[in-house]
Amino acid sequence: MSAVLKLWRNAQLATCDAAARRLTHGAFTTRGGRIEWVGEEQSLPAVTPDETHDLGGAWVTPGLIDCHTHLVFAGTRAGEYAERLRGRTYEDIARAGGGIVSSVRAVREASEQQLFDESAPRLAALIAEGVTTLEIKSGYGLTLADEAKMLRVARHLGRAFPVTVRTTLLAAHTLPPEYRGRGEDYIDAVAHEWLPELAAQGLVDAVDVFCESIAFSLAQAERLFAAARALGVPVKMHAEQLSNLGGSLLAARYGALSCDHLEFAGEAEAEALAGAGTAAVLLPVAFYCLAATRRPPVAALRAAGTAIAVASDCNPGSAPGASLLLAMSMATRLFGLTAEEALLGVTRHAAQALGLQHERGCLAAGYAADFVVWNVRSVEELGYWIGFNPRRTVVRAAEVLRWPNLTS
Ligand code: NIG
Ligand code: FE
Repeated sequence: MSAVLKLWRNAQLATCDAAARRLTHGAFTTRGGRIEWVGEEQSLPAVTPDETHDLGGAWVTPGLIDCHTHLVFAGTRAGEYAERLRGRTYEDIARAGGGIVSSVRAVREASEQQLFDESAPRLAALIAEGVTTLEIKSGYGLTLADEAKMLRVARHLGRAFPVTVRTTLLAAHTLPPEYRGRGEDYIDAVAHEWLPELAAQGLVDAVDVFCESIAFSLAQAERLFAAARALGVPVKMHAEQLSNLGGSLLAARYGALSCDHLEFAGEAEAEALAGAGTAAVLLPVAFYCLAATRRPPVAALRAAGTAIAVASDCNPGSAPGASLLLAMSMATRLFGLTAEEALLGVTRHAAQALGLQHERGCLAAGYAADFVVWNVRSVEELGYWIGFNPRRTVVRAAEVLRWPNLTS
């Protein structure tokens, strides 16, 4: 049987394509799970669709892409958050054996099923906002078995929910206590034992490293990147969040998919990222929750032509929550992105940050038929509402999602 042909008509389209076209009397067709044609309705080719959906003049965007999450975790760090409210810093808590390591303890104790059950509501919340693709990192296991457990849960979520999941191995998130004083041994294990093993199991779409004084050095990051390159696994980096160790420049040299955070980056970093085609992923929810004051170099990124993405950073420490729309709001208000930049940041540029720029993140022929129909008068409303979700319908692979029973 040939794939079902659907016509979606009477829509306003924010295509997020290379020209960021907006079509006020738009229509598109999908065949199977892909978009076949997009344009003004008056130019619609003569087709006989199997189904026609009249979208009533509503705005449509590509399905949103959350390109940086630590969505799989157990427990919370609300106690640490309360301490930070009283003035203790994130670094101080980390150095005293809390921070990421507290989540590591919780994840090691959790069964695979518990991890799935705790993470599923966060994923459902993101999908409810129109997220059709997201990245999920490991990084709270920090043993081969526990990192594998996290990545399996991430894959399982991707099968159970109507969403595309890309997994990232972030074993180089922080040094686990059993390796204290043996950072080099740990990086060797991750680079030469865990990465090849987990990649062979099909659990790794990319490798990430937290390059920071409380985590891993530039030289250690480079050793991990070299091992990833030898295996053909793309790399990403948590870089320049709390200080500038030169992470972005290294990541650019390795053609990283993305460099994320970047508060301490400047013009040289912006130019290097642009030159390498590395996306700059801004994480304003972490900036907000850590009460950070130094902003990422948005003007320099813009001037260099770097692809700027925006993500939720969903994690129990620096960004508790699961809202990409809130991240858009914060990216505009706190970082000075325009509404258009924020939208591209969660579509086209977020796709680039995951290496998916040829299949997702815009409404164009050949792309995945993942899109969102919104109850808004203009797409500027997407980064405008706070704590209010104007989603009307989410469509994934040309299938309309039905609430509340999202899981299959
Ligand atoms: O992206 N910076 C490192 N990783 C996370 C925080 C993880 C945590 O605190 O649990 C981030 O902000
Ligand atoms: Fe992160």
